[in-house]
Amino acid sequence: MAVQRVRDKVASITEVAAGSPEDFGVFSPAPKRNEPAMQTFKVAVIAGDGIGPEITACAVQVMEAVARKHDFAISHGSGLAAAAAVDAGKDPLPAETVKLCDESNAILCGPFGDPRWDNAPPAERPERAKLILRKKYDLYANLRPVKPVPALLDASPLRRELVEGADILIVRELVGGLYFAEPRGYFEDAKGKYGVNTMKYHAWEVDRIGKVAFEAARLRGKKVHSADKANALEVMQLWRTTMQALRDKDYADCELKHVFVDNCCMQLVAEPRQFDVIVAGNMFGDILSDIGAQITGSLGMLPSASLGTGVPLFEPVHGSAPDIAGKGKANPLAMILTAGMMFTYAAKRPDIGAAIDRAVEKALQSGLRTADIARGKPGEKLVGTREMGEAVLAAL
Ligand code: IPM
Ligand code: MG
Repeated sequence: MAVQRVRDKVASITEVAAGSPEDFGVFSPAPKRNEPAMQTFKVAVIAGDGIGPEITACAVQVMEAVARKHDFAISHGSGLAAAAAVDAGKDPLPAETVKLCDESNAILCGPFGDPRWDNAPPAERPERAKLILRKKYDLYANLRPVKPVPALLDASPLRRELVEGADILIVRELVGGLYFAEPRGYFEDAKGKYGVNTMKYHAWEVDRIGKVAFEAARLRGKKVHSADKANALEVMQLWRTTMQALRDKDYADCELKHVFVDNCCMQLVAEPRQFDVIVAGNMFGDILSDIGAQITGSLGMLPSASLGTGVPLFEPVHGSAPDIAGKGKANPLAMILTAGMMFTYAAKRPDIGAAIDRAVEKALQSGLRTADIARGKPGEKLVGTREMGEAVLAAL
């Protein structure tokens, strides 16, 4: 009886998951014809910590300008979270911020993290607020596109001929695996204190993230690399066989290659152009996406979309960069491109998302560079956060 109940539950979760990529509009971004005209699109803006407020201010300006230009009704409210909330005497994720998110169509979120908590256990760190948001809205699919901007080909530490033409989508599982599974925590036994985290995936979790990867691949190069560690971990053996079964059953038109995650890291810098879609679990996807970022020249260029069953969240891949916070030096482009992903995936207006991408490209073509992407080449002009943001606005 109990077994049947569990099966039913898994079946219902799988069903929801099976329908989800289309439901959240990832792969059918155009509004359905019989949908009523969209009312005002509401955005919960959480600027976050460190450089968050500076870069978010630029992204909000771009968001408002592009919406005006395309006659798209948008409104936004601001909420505090993470260290910024703690400094205001609140919880890392205050109830009013959650309420704002609940009532919004999308969350535009800056980076979280503050060095004052560097030695604190994970559960007490303010950036935990982001993990809670991801989990709360079941945002299991984190899309992290890695595509070097032509104007920045020489900013990559890799040779131009290696990165030119690279176009990768990292699909990271975001609400399971090592980040969330139980048991976790600190314990003590006869040998002393120890810490535990658990890498656990149910087949249905692998299935639903795999489906997102294959659906994305169908719109691109139809090739999926699944990064695992099946040579050492049972959970990753299950990951591998589940991915293969999914491919054989529903995606025979796509190519699936299994690659050990350590080898995948190496291949990403050796020959990035061989990849189309890379799908990975939470921990491995986190690591792979930072490597991927360097292909584009800087972590300051990478946007991401976190999609699932609840309110979608959009955030840059980079962190809060406390060392340069408040100095007006940070690169706002990842945050601006993140607003672009929000228009594409949440507002279902890929045309507005593309307009933002083009404006960023134009600002870079004019030679403007923030410090992280400046290489001292002729024609470059070193600028700060505000000037870069204004150049994108002007290019719109
Ligand atoms: C990311 C970040 C986060 C993560 C941190 C800040 C918890 O590194 O989004 O890649 O590990 O998911
Ligand atoms: Mg990371």
